[in-house]
Amino acid sequence: MTTDTTTKDAAPGATAPGETVLDARGVTMRFGGLTAVNNVDLTVNSGEIVGLIGPNGAGKTTFFNCLTGLYIPTEGEVRYKGQVLPPKSFKVTAAGVARTFQNIRLFANMTVLENVLVGRHTRTKEGLWSALLRGPGFHRAERASRERAMELLAFVGLDAKAEHLARNLPYGEQRKLEIARALASEPGLLLLDEPTAGMNPQETRATEELVFAIRDKGIAVLVIEHDMRFIFNLCDRVAVLVQGEKLVEGDSATVQGDERVVAAYLGEPFEDAPGSEEIAEVEAAEAQAAATDSAPGKENDR
Ligand SMILES: Nc1ncnc2c1ncn2[C@@H]1O[C@H](COP(=O)(O)OP(=O)(O)O)[C@@H](O)[C@H]1O
Ligand SMILES: [Mg+2]
Repeated sequence: MTTDTTTKDAAPGATAPGETVLDARGVTMRFGGLTAVNNVDLTVNSGEIVGLIGPNGAGKTTFFNCLTGLYIPTEGEVRYKGQVLPPKSFKVTAAGVARTFQNIRLFANMTVLENVLVGRHTRTKEGLWSALLRGPGFHRAERASRERAMELLAFVGLDAKAEHLARNLPYGEQRKLEIARALASEPGLLLLDEPTAGMNPQETRATEELVFAIRDKGIAVLVIEHDMRFIFNLCDRVAVLVQGEKLVEGDSATVQGDERVVAAYLGEPFEDAPGSEEIAEVEAAEAQAAATDSAPGKENDR
């Protein structure tokens, strides 16, 4: 028996190869006098994982908000599969763009499964009356929804915890649940805002695998992340945002070798560079060493 795995494994929102999924042109976002995002172009094609990096305050989250209808860009246009995105986040989700947030936004007192079911509401055709009357159509739709939600929980590795309250999950699993909930809207494009923030190295590695698996289902991914190793391992293309402007865009090697990127990050250490705590620790140790070095001299002087 032969199985066509490409169709079988493809997500319902999957995009045909060779299609431009996201096309953001000249996106500018101003808050009063502050230009948080300035004339940024970015495309994401089907089958791609694209990274968006940049120092804190560079405008990455603001740019995401412009892509998802949370903000209406001051200037510019965002197209998803050729259509200009509507200026409302639930309509953007319905169109096929899903996201997770830099600060986890789950329904803490709902179960894991319920959180994913909430994510499905843009995809369930059963309307208000059907839900109120709870006719056979409603029950059929609800059963199908639950099955799909359980499938997604299995995909992210949380099916065994379906009945747990979201707030009782460890941090790393809450992040996974957010991804499952985003996938529940059956997107063609998934936007991840710092998906490994606060994760340990094993969790980060698992997230990397999860993002590859999402891409393999035909869902294009745009990811913001601070962890450089994560980004350069994962992404086909990386764009660097600095002070609201796109500074460089290219494959990992191009971006890593670009002096402007290194300069933009000076003062903000890379993942493998000594962190600020380590620098402070070294400086404290040096100061102490200097103090003890001079102390005997002082004593001798007395
Ligand atoms: N709603 C807002 N109102 C005013 N300023 C904002 C708002 N959102 C973000 N900013 C400002 O825009 C800049 C970019 O922020 P942000 O997009 O969060 O950066 P990043 O995600 O790259 O760290 C910052 O200077 C931030 O203070
Ligand atoms: Mg941010």
